[in-house]
Amino acid sequence: MTAVGIDAMEIWTGKLKLDLAETFAPAQGDDPGKYTKGLGLRASSFPDVYEDIVTMGANAAHRLMERKGLTPDDIGRIDVATESAFDNSKPVSTYIAGCLEQVYDENFHHANKGERKFACISGTQSLDDAYNWIRAGRNRGRAALVIATDTALYARDDPGEATQGAGAVAMLVDEDPNLVELSTEQGYGSADETDFLKPNQQFPSVDGKRSVNVYLARMREALEDFAEVAGDIHPGDYEMIPFHTPFPGMVRKAAALGYRHIIRGTDVGDLMAEEIGHQPMRSDFETDDEFHAAIKEYTDALTETERYQDWYSNAIEPTLEISREVGNWYTGSVHIARASGLKHARENGLDLDDARLLVASYGSGAQAEVHAETVVPGWEEEIGALDIDEQIRNRYDLSFAEYEQVHDVHNHETETDVEEFTAPENEFAFDGWGRMGERK
Ligand code: HMG
Repeated sequence: MTAVGIDAMEIWTGKLKLDLAETFAPAQGDDPGKYTKGLGLRASSFPDVYEDIVTMGANAAHRLMERKGLTPDDIGRIDVATESAFDNSKPVSTYIAGCLEQVYDENFHHANKGERKFACISGTQSLDDAYNWIRAGRNRGRAALVIATDTALYARDDPGEATQGAGAVAMLVDEDPNLVELSTEQGYGSADETDFLKPNQQFPSVDGKRSVNVYLARMREALEDFAEVAGDIHPGDYEMIPFHTPFPGMVRKAAALGYRHIIRGTDVGDLMAEEIGHQPMRSDFETDDEFHAAIKEYTDALTETERYQDWYSNAIEPTLEISREVGNWYTGSVHIARASGLKHARENGLDLDDARLLVASYGSGAQAEVHAETVVPGWEEEIGALDIDEQIRNRYDLSFAEYEQVHDVHNHETETDVEEFTAPENEFAFDGWGRMGERK
């Protein structure tokens, strides 16, 4: 079977930065440790006034096409995943294609364009769609462009405000990929939930605390479902586990749950049992509360062990490095986590050829999906081409007053006249309704 997967990717961050420790925490009257240690975030990326989901997506896609020497004729499909769409009819992919057509002689007249929605997990669902399209033999030798783009903003003073972010990830899905090969095995955990939603509104209504538990519950179900198709998982099977990362503190919880789950029935589970005792079973307790208290006690002990901490620092920590600097990018978040882990491996001279990744995606509403990927030779060159560190460094550092202004700009309900903080440089820039993404 020909390998199908992600051939290359590009990341485009919003050009502004909100420093959580230096700027946000003092304005909120909070201890910076709540953000830097508790949530695990240093900063958020913010879109400048001329940036939005279209410009960021188009800029990431354009850079990807240029680097890979592609023209529109090479692309048979453009899938955009977003939960920040502004048009209930025309998909964002048509706006992005419109931008790209300004710079190529060819157009995308024969490409299938669409928009995927299921909160943050739709980035991975779009990858799946592209993979299935190629596997079904409908691609006529062409590749798919998958773009995850979001302005993940919350209402002012919402507890989610500290986790905001904005950026786009463009991925080229093709045969014989140079980055990762996707597998056919997937596990799902899915249930109708109402802890995070945006029914015809700009900013989400969120029950933040509940959303954390819903994430964990769906992730556990997805891991169980994955084991049904792929067989039992051993912690040593996967070099890294990129999780959907709304903030690194969430992944700290998800990783502990994942590890607890995957060591069951393995030699690692036996060693852990000797060290900290057996995992609590529901049947040993009279009430759910007693069981949950015992699970929490066991998990706390587990995460204190050297074995767990070694695993965490190799399999999880590297996937969080970019996220700490940029916040939640919703649909792009898990794809940043993958890129972050691979970038860390490249910078530290780790050989990941043929290594396996377990990619754990999640979207509120709610659904988790777990699938395996294989890192393929060529990955180092592809990851080495990313300039995300430079983009992160070059962001304009907002004062709190400037942050308040720019937040208003991106709240479509508020009239504002704020000057841009940075200047567009040879990129697509937002230029008013109906004239989106002009090249400047
Ligand atoms: P909060 O309630 O204001 O924060 O917001 P907190 O009081 O729970 O503190 C956060 C952590 O910091 C806690 O750690 C504190 O102990 C710690 P934990 O107990 O959880 O391990 N802390 C400190 N640590 C060190 N020094 C200090 C200090 N103070 C406190 N001084 C909340 C947290 C998650 C509720 C909020 O950020 C929120 O509402 N976020 C938005 C929703 C969200 O991100 N949910 C995550 C799961 S759902 C998801 O991922 C889907 C999503 O991406 C959307 C989609 O799919 O489309 C959001």
